[in-house]
Amino acid sequence: METVVSGIRPTGNLHLGNYFGAVKGFLQMQHEYNCLFFIADWHSLTTHPHPADIRKSAYTILSEYLACGIDPEIAPIYIQSDVPETVELYLYLNMIAGIGELMRTTSFKDKARQQLHIDRVHTTEGDVEHEIFNESNKHSVSAGLLTYPTLMAADIIIHKAVKVPVGKDQEQNMEMARRFARRFNQTYGVDFFPEPASFYYSHKAVKVPGLDGSGKMGKSEGNAIYLIDDEKTIRKKVMKAVTDSGPTEPNSPKPEPIANLFTMMEIVSTKDTYDYFNEKYNACEIRYGDMKKQLAEDINAFCAPIRERILAIAADTDYLDKVARQGAEKARASAAKTLNEVRRIIGFHSY
Ligand code: TYM
Repeated sequence: METVVSGIRPTGNLHLGNYFGAVKGFLQMQHEYNCLFFIADWHSLTTHPHPADIRKSAYTILSEYLACGIDPEIAPIYIQSDVPETVELYLYLNMIAGIGELMRTTSFKDKARQQLHIDRVHTTEGDVEHEIFNESNKHSVSAGLLTYPTLMAADIIIHKAVKVPVGKDQEQNMEMARRFARRFNQTYGVDFFPEPASFYYSHKAVKVPGLDGSGKMGKSEGNAIYLIDDEKTIRKKVMKAVTDSGPTEPNSPKPEPIANLFTMMEIVSTKDTYDYFNEKYNACEIRYGDMKKQLAEDINAFCAPIRERILAIAADTDYLDKVARQGAEKARASAAKTLNEVRRIIGFHSY
């Protein structure tokens, strides 16, 4: 059976972007593949080096994974830092990864730019790639952030996974994972690691939009609707969505904020609901207030049962401990098997 791996960083609660970009795929795949799902707590150190309580944050995601419907009996859930074998593979991959290619990844450049923000106020506008080697900035951007994609590749190929359910924003990291798997094989003259492919449950990459005008929904974008949000919070967030005064010509193209509202409706509402408001839009009869009210209702209907399960599961720490322990055991067994082979391929002694 083919292996599937995916993870989410424990930097907050799961939001609709995480659910429809990734978790929905996890739920579909768990019955058909050999799945392992994890909580990427090491990765969260790249942007949050002093987490207040990293174990608690990991358990938040663990409860939410379970509340969404991952069955840990068929798809182990583990915490990344419980599987130290990953770090050894990460080291080997860092030996064959180039700093040039790592520095060119968009997420590195974006995050480096954010981390350099304070320093940049005093510097002339320039390329971040150049600036990170600037003496005054040398502590601002970590090597951990630079090697984020090698750690992600290690997460995936340590289990020889072939499919990875992720949202659109992970495309470049996935490209890097394939590249490092391929390079390992080429470097050591083996056909050992398969090249992992992104998996999209709807056959195309999903990007859940924010409702604040442009871009994607995200924790750091400050526009997330969380699975755990209550009805009132959801209504407030949706009613705040950016709109305009409405189309003046029939069948007008939709400006981005409006298109995003419709995309969200397409994701959470029924087809009939979507078609109803789409026709209204095309006939210049759209009332965004009504549309938002409907959307808020549909999002709440989707989140409410998950929210209830989260609250029940999060209170059962014995159960969470058990899931994490069993997940770690299974993941370590799978990782150790790969790592033994890797050590043998590179030429280390195996006892
Ligand atoms: P993270 O924690 O940022 O996001 C977790 C998952 O949610 C998806 N996602 C979205 N999908 C669609 N629309 C959105 N608005 C949206 N926001 C988030 C992400 O695409 C992702 O699938 N690098 C990863 C964590 C990771 C990982 C891995 C993933 C570490 N190692 C190995 C897969 C395999 C990340 O930062 O995800």
